[in-house]
Amino acid sequence: MRITVAEDLNAFYSLVAWRIAEAVIAKPDAVIGLATGRTTTGIHKALADIWAAHPFDTSRATVFGMDEITHVSREFPGSCYDMLLKQVVLPLHIPMKNFLMPPVESDDFERECRLFDKKIEARGGVDLQILGIGENGHLGFNQPGTPFGSVTWISRMDEALDARIRRESGSAPDADLGGFTIGIRNIMMSRRVILAANGSNKTGIVHKALYGPVTTEVPASVLQLHPFAEAILDPDAAGKLPAEG
Ligand code: GLP
Repeated sequence: MRITVAEDLNAFYSLVAWRIAEAVIAKPDAVIGLATGRTTTGIHKALADIWAAHPFDTSRATVFGMDEITHVSREFPGSCYDMLLKQVVLPLHIPMKNFLMPPVESDDFERECRLFDKKIEARGGVDLQILGIGENGHLGFNQPGTPFGSVTWISRMDEALDARIRRESGSAPDADLGGFTIGIRNIMMSRRVILAANGSNKTGIVHKALYGPVTTEVPASVLQLHPFAEAILDPDAAGKLPAEG
């Protein structure tokens, strides 16, 4: 896996943002998978700044969210839909018909999962998948133990995240919060993937994911097997990596 360590945090955000911009400039009808969270919020801000300074054609690009919380309102500011809409789709003027998101409500989520995969396939598959990493190595909502052969599915929330979302979204105590997520197999089928990580809270897990054994206990370790994967890190997240040279 290619490993790129940015000079500082701002350079990290800008580097990942430029990778996304370049993918669309090189292929205007590119299909780009996005993630949400603190890491990608900074990346998306940098991307919006790039677009404002150097607008490029986004009329044919497709962006989709790799995961979403089920049974919370799309208007909830912590929903992946709301974040990607405000951080990427509106600032880059991506047509709404080219913004694909998992549904938050359905009486048949299994069918919705198959439908989501079909929609992405119909657009030619994923050109670039941007990934954050959880402190336990999760990708999207694929927690440790998720089989590498998994395709889009509904995973269980971990308890802490479940409690936080309930508190912040005001969702009903009996709402069945789940993690709609593309699976590990979907991630591996993307033509290119970028794992983006910053901060000293990610140093240990980044080291395990990049240099440890490839194991379902560390979902991100599977990326070692992807032919076109790049890890982009800030100096803090890269802290424990072997010195270059
Ligand atoms: C959540 C999301 C992931 C994201 C991860 C890292 O669990 N479902 O897609 O990669 O958090 O988030 P952060 O960047 O805030 O550390």
